[in-house]
Formats: sequence, structure tokens, C-alpha cells
Amino acid sequence: MNKKKIVAIVGSFRRDSFNRQLAQKAQEVLGDRAEFEFIEYADVPNMSQDIEFPTPESVRRIREQIKAADGIWIFSPEYNHSYPGHLKNLIDWLSRPVSKEERQVLSRKPIAISGASNGLGGTVTGQDLLVMLLSMLNADVMNFPRLRVPNAQDQADENGVLHLKDSLPYLEKQATAFLKYLDRG
Ligand SMILES: Cc1cc2nc3c(=O)[nH]c(=O)nc-3n(C[C@H](O)[C@H](O)[C@H](O)COP(=O)(O)O)c2cc1C
Repeated sequence: MNKKKIVAIVGSFRRDSFNRQLAQKAQEVLGDRAEFEFIEYADVPNMSQDIEFPTPESVRRIREQIKAADGIWIFSPEYNHSYPGHLKNLIDWLSRPVSKEERQVLSRKPIAISGASNGLGGTVTGQDLLVMLLSMLNADVMNFPRLRVPNAQDQADENGVLHLKDSLPYLEKQATAFLKYLDRG
């Protein structure tokens, strides 16, 4: 069986982001069971139909990464109980058809969602809104299990390094579940 390819989208640009660290842990947990690659999107411009065509190079690059992937794993904080604006901007770009012949790249794409936050809810509201958005775009969201890491600072050391002492088993379960989800045919 071919190894599945998973691309990670991190919903935070913070240098020491807990969500980026969570994604790195997911990569470790998957080990050699999957290929894992980060989608970097800080260079994606704000969506404006004035610059939609010709497609900006950053958007073209990311669409190719997504087309080549079997699944997407989103790791995102919530900002004010929703997904961060830059993540919405990326999804707005990806929601547009590639050309007259080719539909948008999120359609039928399997997606897993995880999130870490400093709050009690561990991104639950932001995740729910993300599910609504991605479902509208006909993505195949894996609704269960989704991973929430509440009070992430309590699972990090004084240098901000995330150790996930409580959440690691749940990350392992989600990784295995996502591999199965990708295999479901
Ligand atoms: C603009 C903004 C809004 C935030 N809103 C929430 C929120 O609604 N719920 C929550 O639990 N944490 C919220 N936080 C705190 C984040 O959980 C915390 O900053 C977390 O570390 C962000 O994830 P990161 O480490 O991956 O950047 C907010 C942070 C920012 C900067």
C-alpha cells in the first residue's frame, strides 16, 4: 500500500506557536506511517478579485501541495471563538475554482482538525465554525475524533516548549483514526 501524504496547515504565525508544535508532535506520532509536509502560507495576499488572475504564485504553490496530498490536517488556535482571519483568507483563496475546467481543491479532500489554546475550551468553538465552513466547501471533514488541547500553557515548560503530558494519547488516537479515514476508499 502506498504511504499516504498529509499536509499540515497551522493557523498561527506566532514564532513559538503551540499549534505549530502540536503539528510537529503529530508528525512525530505518525512517524513513517505517512508522509507529512507543512503548508507555509504567510506570503498569501489578502483575497481580492482584482488579483485573482493570474493566480498569485503562493496560491498556485499551495493548490499544488493540496492536490498532491491525500489529506489535510489543520492545527489552529481560535481567535475570539472563531478561526483566525489569515486561515479564513487562505481558505477563501482555496475555495475558488482553479480554472473553468478544474474545481476548487478542497472539494472531497479529507480533513482532520486539532487545536491548542490557552483557554478552557481548547478551540472547540473555532473548530465547530471551521467544520461549518469546510463542509460548505464539500470537504470530507473527519468529525470524530477532533483534538482539543485546553490550557496549553499547562502542558508546556517555562520556555514555552509543549510536552503534551496529558494530550499525547489523544493525539496518537487522532493520528491513527485519520490514517484509517484516508484508507476508507
Ligand atoms: C487575537 C486573539 C484572540 C484569542 N482568542 C482566544 C479565544 O477565543 N479562545 C482561547 O481559548 N484563546 C484565545 N486566544 C489565546 C490563544 O489561545 C493563545 O494565544 C494561543 O497560544 C494561540 O495559539 P498559538 O500558540 O498556536 O499561537 C486568543 C489570542 C489572540 C492573539
